[in-house]
Amino acid sequence: MGHQGLARLAPRRRNATPGKIVRRTGALVFVALLGLVLAHVALAGDPAGLSPRGPDSPQAAKIEGIYWLLIAITGGIFVLVEGALILFVFRFRNRGRSRTLEGPEIHGATRLELIWTAIPVVILAAIVAFVLVKLPGINSADSAKAAGPPLIVKVEGRQFYWNFLYPNGVIQVERMRVPANRDVKLLINSEDVDHSWWIPALQGKFDAIPGKTNHLWFRADRRGTFEGQCGEFCGYEHPHMVAAVQAVPSSDFQSWYDREARAQASGTSDLGKMTFDGACATCHGFHAQGAFGPDLRGNPILQQPAAIKTLLQNGRNKMPAVGKGWSSRQMNALLAYVKRFAGSSGGG
Ligand code: CUA
Repeated sequence: MGHQGLARLAPRRRNATPGKIVRRTGALVFVALLGLVLAHVALAGDPAGLSPRGPDSPQAAKIEGIYWLLIAITGGIFVLVEGALILFVFRFRNRGRSRTLEGPEIHGATRLELIWTAIPVVILAAIVAFVLVKLPGINSADSAKAAGPPLIVKVEGRQFYWNFLYPNGVIQVERMRVPANRDVKLLINSEDVDHSWWIPALQGKFDAIPGKTNHLWFRADRRGTFEGQCGEFCGYEHPHMVAAVQAVPSSDFQSWYDREARAQASGTSDLGKMTFDGACATCHGFHAQGAFGPDLRGNPILQQPAAIKTLLQNGRNKMPAVGKGWSSRQMNALLAYVKRFAGSSGGG
């Protein structure tokens, strides 16, 4: 049946009642408002709007290139498909035909079928090619512009904080300090369950898996603090498992690095506070006042280093083994720090 047949099936007779029109207008207004709300939420959350954070590293810049290609292609397809949908809804709307009326049966449209098969194949091939070109640059160092040899940092994901171990023995918790404009190689693993290392402005997401070490390269293009979040659901405090990378000028980094190594070796650094704030405060509060976990102030266990050590290394009930595998440096720093909470009970 040709176009004339279609026209015959669609006699021009209006049967829209005022009630129907009101309902349709209401639905359209609702959809438009929902779209506005969604766009507003998407744009208000971040000054960058719909674009990803950064990019502040050569690796993140390549990831962003892939992001925009996919947004352009999927956005174009979205507009085409939704546009056609809306057009057809109006063009072929029910003009008083019977609901049981059958449409014309159409068999075979070889040219159309070839076109709608070939176009997606070409699009997918273009995406694959683009990603394959960018991928090597995402997974490796960008040494060409890097000032100095790479810094290697061991990243341990733990319930519910990040521990960073530097080659000279320095330990940091939750905040990793690195030199800007220098290659950094991360050796990522987990001490308990799966976590995911993710600083969006600097690199993609990378799993922290027990028993396996993953490698990730990045180079911060500028000084600044780049924030992130554990990207894998890892337990009840997963949303509070935050991370930050602080990139500082190379000379500042070097002087801090040497100073911190001496301070930690002699037990005069703030490693104890940093460990408490990262590992303990998530559940017990920054002043040990209790939150998700119990109030620790005045708890007699704080006077018994051996008992705390056992608790930290083994966990108990809901408390994970946050101190499993800690070096004696980190354990001793924490034991020294928590003494301050031994005397004050309640109210303080
Ligand atoms: Cu660690 Cu989520």
